[in-house]
Amino acid sequence: MLEAIQPAPRDAILGLTAAFREDPRSEKINLSVGVYQNELGATPTLESVRIAEQRLAEAATSKSYLPIPGAPEYAEVVQKLAFGAKHEAVQSSRIATAHTPGGTGALRVAGDFLKTNFPNATLWLSDPTWPNHPNIFVAAGVPMKSYPYFDKESNGLAIEPMLEAISKMPAGDVILLHGCCHNPTGIDPTAEQWKQIAEAVYAQGLLPVLDFAYQGFADGIEEDAAGLRAFAQPEAELLLCSSFSKNFGLYRERVGALSIVCPSADAASAVQSQMNRVIRSNYSNPPAHGGAIVNSVLRDDALRASWEKEVATMRERINGMRQQLVEALAAQGVPGDYSFITRQRGMFSFTGLTKDQVETLREKHAIYIVGSGRINVAGLTPTNIERVAEAISEVVGQPA
Ligand code: LMR
Repeated sequence: MLEAIQPAPRDAILGLTAAFREDPRSEKINLSVGVYQNELGATPTLESVRIAEQRLAEAATSKSYLPIPGAPEYAEVVQKLAFGAKHEAVQSSRIATAHTPGGTGALRVAGDFLKTNFPNATLWLSDPTWPNHPNIFVAAGVPMKSYPYFDKESNGLAIEPMLEAISKMPAGDVILLHGCCHNPTGIDPTAEQWKQIAEAVYAQGLLPVLDFAYQGFADGIEEDAAGLRAFAQPEAELLLCSSFSKNFGLYRERVGALSIVCPSADAASAVQSQMNRVIRSNYSNPPAHGGAIVNSVLRDDALRASWEKEVATMRERINGMRQQLVEALAAQGVPGDYSFITRQRGMFSFTGLTKDQVETLREKHAIYIVGSGRINVAGLTPTNIERVAEAISEVVGQPA
C-alpha cells in the first residue's frame, strides 16, 4: 500500500529552512522563517524566560496531565495580556480560553471548532496571507475564499476594496484578520481603519478570527492590541489565536492559546465545552512547559518588566535593520523607492521581489527568502546586510 505514496511538496516556509540546513555553502543567509536573531545572528533564550525556567525547575513536583484547556491561571494571564486586565469581557468571564500548542495549534482548534459548529460558514482570508493558513483550514475541512488586502501600487492597505469585499460577504461567514504585523506584508490598518473594519465586519454579521502572533513587535505590547480591542466591544463575539513563539522566543515550546469571546458567561461555558471536545480528540491536553513559563513571567512584576524590555530590544533592532536595509539598497543604487520598508511593521518586509529573483537569490547568492518575496528583517545583521543589499541589487538589475 505504502509503495504508492508520492512525496509531499516542501512547506513554503519551514521547507526552506530544511533546505537551508542542507546547503553546504558557508556564506548562506536564512531570511525565510520568522525567527528573531540578535545582531550576532543568534536566537538566544530570553533572560526573563531563563529565570522563570530555573524557578519552575526548582518548584516542579509533578508531570501529571493538565486539564484539557490547560491551566486556568495561564488562561487568565493570556486574556489579560491581550484584552487588558480591566477589560469588560475579561471581568465578566465571557471569554473561553484554551492553551494550545503554538499559534498554529490555536488556528487548528479554531478550524475544527468552526467546522463542527458552523459547517456551512466560509472562512475569508486576506490576499496575501501566511501560507500555512490555507493548509490549516483545508485540514480542518473549512471552505475558504480571499478578500483584497494589499495595494501593490502604494505598498499599503487596500482599505476601500477590503471594506467593499466585506460588505458583500454573506452573514454567518467567518473572516480572519492579522491582529498586528500582518504576515507577509507588514502592512497593518491604522487605529481609525481598525474601527472601520470592525464596524463593517459586525454590520455584515460576520464572525472575526484574529491571528495574534506578534504582539509587541510593531509599536508596543499594549499598542499592538489596538486592532483586537477595536473588535472586543461590549457583547461582540470573536476568536483570538495567540502565539508566544515570537514575543517570548518560545518557538520550540509550542505555546499559544485560543480565546473565544462570547456574548455572555453562559455562552462562554458552552463554547469552552465544545473547544474541549475538539482538543480531546486531537492532542488531548496541552504540553505544560511553555505555558508555565509565560504564566510565571507575566505574574511576577520584575520578570514582566524585564520581559517587556527584551521585547522592546527585539522591536528596536528590527526597526533599525529596516532603516539600514533601505540605506544599503540606496547605496547599491537599486532603482526604485524602498522607503516603504521602514513603514512596514513586525518581522517581515514584503519586498516585491519576484519568484525568479527569489530563486536567483537562493541559487546564486545562498540567500533564502520566502517565494512571495517576504524577507525576515529580524534575520538581518550588521554583518550580513551589505551582502544582502548587493545580492538584491544584482537580481533586481536582471530582467524579472
Ligand atoms: C513564519 O511565517 O515564518 C512563522 O510564522 C513561522 C512559521 O511557522 O511559518
